[in-house]
Amino acid sequence: MSDFILRPIHDEDKEWIARLITDRWGSEIIVVHQTLYTPTDLPGIVAVRMDKRVGLITYHIRGHECEIVTLDSLSPSIGIGTSLIREVRKIARDAGCRRLWLITTNDNVQALRFYQKRGFVLVAIHRNAVEGARKIKPEIPMVNEEGIPIRDEIELEMILDALDEE
Ligand SMILES: CC(C)(COP(=O)(O)OP(=O)(O)OC[C@H]1O[C@@H](n2cnc3c(N)ncnc32)[C@H](O)[C@@H]1OP(=O)(O)O)[C@@H](O)C(=O)NCCC(=O)NCCS
Repeated sequence: MSDFILRPIHDEDKEWIARLITDRWGSEIIVVHQTLYTPTDLPGIVAVRMDKRVGLITYHIRGHECEIVTLDSLSPSIGIGTSLIREVRKIARDAGCRRLWLITTNDNVQALRFYQKRGFVLVAIHRNAVEGARKIKPEIPMVNEEGIPIRDEIELEMILDALDEE
């Protein structure tokens, strides 16, 4: 049994979100596919465990597509990441979306592993896309903590079936 709950973002979460995104992603903004997002302005879900915020997913719905913009879990391996994805998938399906998708970078092998195990498939590699993102967000490092060059954007998707109840 899980000991955390999920709830939509409240206005009072915004300061925490700005800090979390800055800590984990270098600044308050996210730049993917040449688009600048400010997670404090996006809808999302917060995971709360023992009165502490321990996870966040933010997303952006456009037409029949829902993009996961950020996903962060502060209490690993107790199901928070999986639950946040499941919740956004439900929101997307209820909003009439046919596609749930996201961008991660080539170095993020943990995310590639995580998403593929949860039904996402790789649909495109946007080679050298991070070079363009760095022009808007110079904080993006050249290499990650493991020494892998941060270079390409990898697009993953899950096609949503309105009849699929999972
Ligand atoms: C990727 C990330 C979101 C995963 O979050 P998480 O909360 O650890 O995810 P979960 O707990 O749902 O799953 C992680 C593992 O724990 C396991 N797990 C989940 N609940 C468990 C439980 N109760 N007991 C034991 N193991 C459990 C899962 O099976 C999973 O392992 P698997 O991938 O081999 O199946 C997190 O590592 C993270 O914040 N990474 C950095 C940010 C990032 O890269 N975000 C994605 C790019 S946008």
